[in-house]
Amino acid sequence: MKIAIASDHAGFELKEKLKEFLNELGYGYKDFGTFSKESVDYPDYALRVAESVAEKKFERGILVCGTGIGMSMAANKVPGIRAALCYDEKTARLSREHNDANILTLGARLMSEKKAKEIVKVWLKTEFAGGRHSRRLKKIEEIERMY
Ligand code: RB5
Repeated sequence: MKIAIASDHAGFELKEKLKEFLNELGYGYKDFGTFSKESVDYPDYALRVAESVAEKKFERGILVCGTGIGMSMAANKVPGIRAALCYDEKTARLSREHNDANILTLGARLMSEKKAKEIVKVWLKTEFAGGRHSRRLKKIEEIERMY
């Protein structure tokens, strides 16, 4: 599985750690920036990753900002994106099983590196459960088509 990853300045350090972790776990990735702690605007990075996942160039995306909230809001504007802000292993697992989340967003200022790694590990290995959840995801797609 190939992963698109990006952050803003607030998430930069954690993104770098997560890249090392992805290497350890054996996942390939492309880093869409940012590449320093200089202040940037998170929607620019959310868009890069969200587009690449929506276009199926990457199977999953990981976005890191201070809270994970801005990245989640921005990424979810791209049709086909189901970005989930997760703060523990349970939300990570459920965002995959029930929501087939294709982007994980994390808040670097609100969690430890250890917690972020635990979340990433669970999120990447959990499969979508399908069944009744597929019907609900179709309804989300219908909402996208209304606007
Ligand atoms: C940047 O200061 C901060 O606002 C951003 O990283 C993020 O938390 C927004 O949701």
